Amino acid sequence: MTAATAKPASFSEDNSDDLVIARMASCPDARLQAVLASIVRHLHAAVREIEPTEEEWMAAIGFLTETGQMCDDRRQEFILLSDTLGVSMLVDAINNRKSRAATESTVLGPFHVAGAPHRALGETICLDGKGAPLVVSGMVRDAGGAPIPGATLDVWQANDDGFYDVQQPGTQPDMNLRGVFTTDAEGRYWFRSVKPLFYAIPHDGPVGRLLHALGRHPYRPAHIHFIVAASGYRPVTTHIFPEDDPYLDSDAVFGVKDSLILPFELIDDAEAAARHGVANPFWAVEADFVLDRA
Ligand code: BEZ
Ligand code: FE
Repeated sequence: MTAATAKPASFSEDNSDDLVIARMASCPDARLQAVLASIVRHLHAAVREIEPTEEEWMAAIGFLTETGQMCDDRRQEFILLSDTLGVSMLVDAINNRKSRAATESTVLGPFHVAGAPHRALGETICLDGKGAPLVVSGMVRDAGGAPIPGATLDVWQANDDGFYDVQQPGTQPDMNLRGVFTTDAEGRYWFRSVKPLFYAIPHDGPVGRLLHALGRHPYRPAHIHFIVAASGYRPVTTHIFPEDDPYLDSDAVFGVKDSLILPFELIDDAEAAARHGVANPFWAVEADFVLDRA
């Protein structure tokens, strides 16, 4: 007689996650197995805690279905979902631990475009002529304070109506408010733009409806995006935020870090304006970036 093999326990509220995880025992990919086991544990714990009705569960499935159906090569509703639930910022924090001196990172967002035009220092990125003139300047340094010549700053921002060029093809000039600048021999950069304004993230889909249902607004505080990179250093994807913005404490995507909030100064000086090639008065901000070694 062969020894009887124990019959696995049948499915119950208490053992549901154990049963599902046991079924993955022969998965050849250890990382996949660990990731799915964790997701199953947490998902089953949430369902046990929430005790959804069947109608509520189907509404959740319907929400995810609509989120997927909203995605195409211009719109990524799942990333918006991740952003608005704070998951994008958590993944960013885990993957971009830095020295104390280094510039903090924040979300890339869906509106970065690879291959923006390289521009000379001092050039403007504003091609639609809308907005209050702004001069952005600063330095790129290493963690010890030494300037980094030849660093690149890939910059982009929304226009004065609160939209990126890629959201308004045919309305805004191509590559409006985008450019790549290279620091000079002293590690300095400067360029002209317009003062950014707060804007709403796309909220005409399921994520916008969820925000509304939660009593949340869809606004991001005004910001300029930067990817700062230099050979031999870890690049940083970050923003700068003007300190006078009303949404700094309630960014829809949790992207604000105190160290990235900067004073934007309104300068009324006709001579300085002429020197910078902007109308008077104009805004000015100094933003330095610090990169860790690779
Ligand atoms: C952005 O700053 O461009 C952005 C980030 C997350 C979601 C939507 C927009
Ligand atoms: Fe943005």
